[in-house]
Amino acid sequence: MAKNVAVKPDALNTGISQANTKKVASELNKILSDEFVLYVKTLNFHWNIEGRDFHALHLFLDEQYNQLQTIIDSVAERVRKLGHFAHGSMKEFLAESTIKEQPGDKMVSEKMLASLADDHEGLIREMRKMIDDFDEKYKDAGSADFITGIMKEHEKMAWMLRSSIR
Ligand SMILES: [Fe+2]
Repeated sequence: MAKNVAVKPDALNTGISQANTKKVASELNKILSDEFVLYVKTLNFHWNIEGRDFHALHLFLDEQYNQLQTIIDSVAERVRKLGHFAHGSMKEFLAESTIKEQPGDKMVSEKMLASLADDHEGLIREMRKMIDDFDEKYKDAGSADFITGIMKEHEKMAWMLRSSIR
């Protein structure tokens, strides 16, 4: 009988050490936290944006928060694929996120869009570092490829936000 059948149910046998999947999952949980806070911030701006361009920006931000929702789900599920647990509470998201929330209030649309673009660019910088670590340090090519795909989505979202600022 093959030696590898007695694997613990929570430990993967896919060629990545448990210590490495744990590190990658921990990094992904940080990203998940940032994505969640950015999602709430985008919703906030979708609701509270005002001005002549309200309708267009309201719809544009609707599209963006829906994209973020899809990203959030895929990041959480990636953590599960690595055999670990995804953060699941606002308390965990707020504790780990580096993105600053905005209270629901009146705000100039240009500032809102610039603030979101900055957040996306911050995430892109974080992810760029992770790609190399996931691949070289933790030997997890799947997560390196995964986070590369997420980074490219943020590049597109950041471009659209920047292009909406006059
Ligand atoms: Fe809405």
